This record gives sequence, structure tokens and C-alpha cells, in this order.
Amino acid sequence: EQTLWPVIAIDGPSASGKGSVAERVAKAFGFHYLDSGALYRLLAYAAYTQSVSWSDAAKLAVIVPSMDIRFEGGEVFLNGEHVSVHIRSEQMGKGASEVAVHPEVRTALLQTQRNFRKAPGLVGDGRDIGSVIFPDAALKVFLTAGVETRAQRRYDQLISRGDTADYETILEDLRQRDLRDTQRSSAPLKQLPDAMLVDTTKMNIVEAVDMIVEAFKKTAKNT
Ligand code: DC
Repeated sequence: EQTLWPVIAIDGPSASGKGSVAERVAKAFGFHYLDSGALYRLLAYAAYTQSVSWSDAAKLAVIVPSMDIRFEGGEVFLNGEHVSVHIRSEQMGKGASEVAVHPEVRTALLQTQRNFRKAPGLVGDGRDIGSVIFPDAALKVFLTAGVETRAQRRYDQLISRGDTADYETILEDLRQRDLRDTQRSSAPLKQLPDAMLVDTTKMNIVEAVDMIVEAFKKTAKNT
């Protein structure tokens, strides 16, 4: 008999703090962590290195099974190459959002994501974790923040790692990414009726983590 380990699904727009929050929630329960956005970023990067267009759904779907993806200690490896820094760029964020509109690509990445569900449980973050990947998640969270707040955080992050950044450009890029991720026909980002809203506009990471940890403890008690 197959045991379905509990899943905490954390979906939300770009730069809402999903990654940091999800990682800490996973640590709190000793759960595995799935950064689903990284998979789309890896595909965008692989396509880029092979000169495959981000709009070529058929070719992109062929690349997916050829990708050997490993997450190790917060670092990401693609076919043995350490690519964490490459896939975190603004360019690959845009590429990820573009490759992610194709249903063929989403289908090709479905099982890869479901394979992360292992004992004793999983925290997954993305856009469709609660709607498509794990609709039976024990807890669904919609993690968001105002677009200006997200742009400011992204700006600070880029500056702190020594990159150059322009706030207005980041804000405009985020608006476009929000639009693409919420308006696409295949698995768009949306706030599910059964998801808990966590708005981090006026909340720090620790407060958001605490809210989610407490909410999950309650669901665990009630089932
Ligand atoms: O979470 P992120 O910013 O790393 O995601 C990059 C892009 O990947 C995002 O703009 C849309 C796409 N994505 C998706 O379509 N579905 C997911 N579950 C995760 C990411």
C-alpha cells in the first residue's frame, strides 16, 4: 500500500519570499523541499545553452528527459554542472516564465515534481503546487506581497550580492512576469479557495514561517 506523505504547498508570485519561507518550513518539520521554479529555470538555461528558443514547445519537451537534475545542500546541478548562479539571473527568471506557458513542458515536468514526495513529507513552492502537482496537499498557502515590496526586496537582494540593479526595471519585469504567470491558460497562478493567504507586505520571513508552521500543526491534529 502506498503511503501518501503530507505536502505543504506554497504558491505565489515572483519575489514573494516563497523560497526562503518554504525552506524554513521544511526545516521546521524535517521535510523535503521542492523548489519547482528551479526546474523551469533549469529548462530555460538548458534551452539557452543549446540555442533552443523558449517559444519552441516541442523541442523544449524533448530537452526535459535529458536533464539530470540534482539538488544538494541548497545548490543546483544540471548534468553535473554547478548552475545555481546561472539559473538565479533575471534573464533565466524571464526564460522560466516563458517556457512555463507551454502545456507540453508542464506535463514533461509533472512526474519529476511528484517524485519529491517522500517520507516524512514535502514542502513545495511554485505557482501550481496546490492546484495541479499536489491537489491533495495537507496545507495550501498563497504567499504574496505588494508588487512594489517585492521589487524592493529583489533590488536589495541583487545589490547585496554585488550586482547592478535598477528598481524601475525590476518593477516593470515583475509586473510582466505576474501577468504572464496569472494569465496563461495552462495552470495559471491563482489564489485557491482552500488556500491560506499569507501577505508578507508588512510581515517578515520569521512571522510568515510561524503562521504556516502553526497552521500545519493544526491540520495534522485534525486528521
Ligand atoms: O519561482 P520562480 O520565480 O523561480 O519561478 C520562475 C518561473 O517559473 C515563474 O515565473 C513561472 C514558472 N513556474 C511555474 O510556471 N510553475 C511553478 N510551479 C514554478 C515556476
